[in-house]
Amino acid sequence: MVKKVGVAILGLGVVGGGTYQTLVEHREFYLKTQQVDISVEMVLDRSSERLDQLGVPSEIRAKSIQEVIAHPNVDIVIETIGGIGVAKEFVTMALRDGKTVVTSNKELICKYSHELEKIAKHNRCGLFYEASCVGGVPIIRTLLDGVQANCIRSMMGIVNGTTNYILTKMTYEGADYADVLKEAQKLGYAEADPTADVEGFDSMYKLSILSSMAFHTKIPYTKISREGITGIGAKDIAYGKELGYTLKLLAIGKNTEKGIEVRVHPTFISNAHPLASVNDSFNAVYMQGDAVGDVMLYGRGAGALPTASAVVSDVIYAATHAEIKYSTFKNTANADGSVKFISDFESAYYLRLLVDDKPGVLAKISGVFAKCGMSIVEIAQKKRDMDLEQGQVPLVIITHQTTENTVKKAVEKIKALQIGTIETVIHVE
Ligand code: HSE
Repeated sequence: MVKKVGVAILGLGVVGGGTYQTLVEHREFYLKTQQVDISVEMVLDRSSERLDQLGVPSEIRAKSIQEVIAHPNVDIVIETIGGIGVAKEFVTMALRDGKTVVTSNKELICKYSHELEKIAKHNRCGLFYEASCVGGVPIIRTLLDGVQANCIRSMMGIVNGTTNYILTKMTYEGADYADVLKEAQKLGYAEADPTADVEGFDSMYKLSILSSMAFHTKIPYTKISREGITGIGAKDIAYGKELGYTLKLLAIGKNTEKGIEVRVHPTFISNAHPLASVNDSFNAVYMQGDAVGDVMLYGRGAGALPTASAVVSDVIYAATHAEIKYSTFKNTANADGSVKFISDFESAYYLRLLVDDKPGVLAKISGVFAKCGMSIVEIAQKKRDMDLEQGQVPLVIITHQTTENTVKKAVEKIKALQIGTIETVIHVE
């Protein structure tokens, strides 16, 4: 028997527009394959030009959220507005009215899923958010269903398409960050205000959601150490490449016996690592489960149709499952005292220094490393650039595993030597 389901879409920007298009164009297909007739009953957006552009019929254009909620045929509300202002208010209203909500909003889920899920349970409706993390890549359902037999030990992901596009261009074209960012903005890959992407906030929200699910514990975003890509130069990417490494903005979560470690930062990974060949705006998440071993999910993490794919999958799931399955996702905005977080985490490091080209300089630097108990894997003096002061040379060092605090100590000691400057410090995984 065919089940009839009515949906409303709030916010018809890139993702909402793609969702509208997918639902309209695939209506017959879902009817045939899923025996569900999903009709868009209402849409809400401030811009009538945008609705004209998408060809939305005038009779389904709502004037207010109240009109959407009061509509008798709306069973599922899709929130694709973004942010936590009006989006939170509208989602809360819909859930309070007993309507199932499907959202693509990572910030909302990262910060308020606990509160929203409580309202959903109380009103016996569902809350779905596959599209909140890694766009069209089905990572949430994989974590909740596909790999639930495992204890997940670690996850490493390229979960932001904008920064991956920028870093890929910098790697393969030797271009500078500022130039690539401008080009990405022109092409619509980066927002006019790119802060959320390039400073790592977007990846941080996604890591908070994904690691909470993977490790079955609360991992508030406030516990995630975050660093963006704005300080990365084409020079470091090129030196790393010569040494066999590729630079990526990684979201890393580790669940160890000593505690939980969660961080977002630019990272050099070996060219042989599967994540090294995830390029352009593609995303991937690489996980290690105790039974399954290594698993990697790869695909488009952003964009209208890839993200709509995740939104509509949630709509179909909600429409075809009578019983609501709530996630085991435990996140809140605050840390749980019983969870131990490691901030002085272990990693290998890449350091680039500009030093005086004089006898004894290298010995002094290696002396500091020895004193701090840091072991060097590789050290290379590079050719002097035209733009460098006479008598200065670049020095690139790769260390063995050490701790964050040890590196900080060594950096201070090297500064005190007054033999040059430390230009960059980058993690190596
Ligand atoms: N702005 C994100 C990205 C997509 O560049 O990957 C939405 O999370």
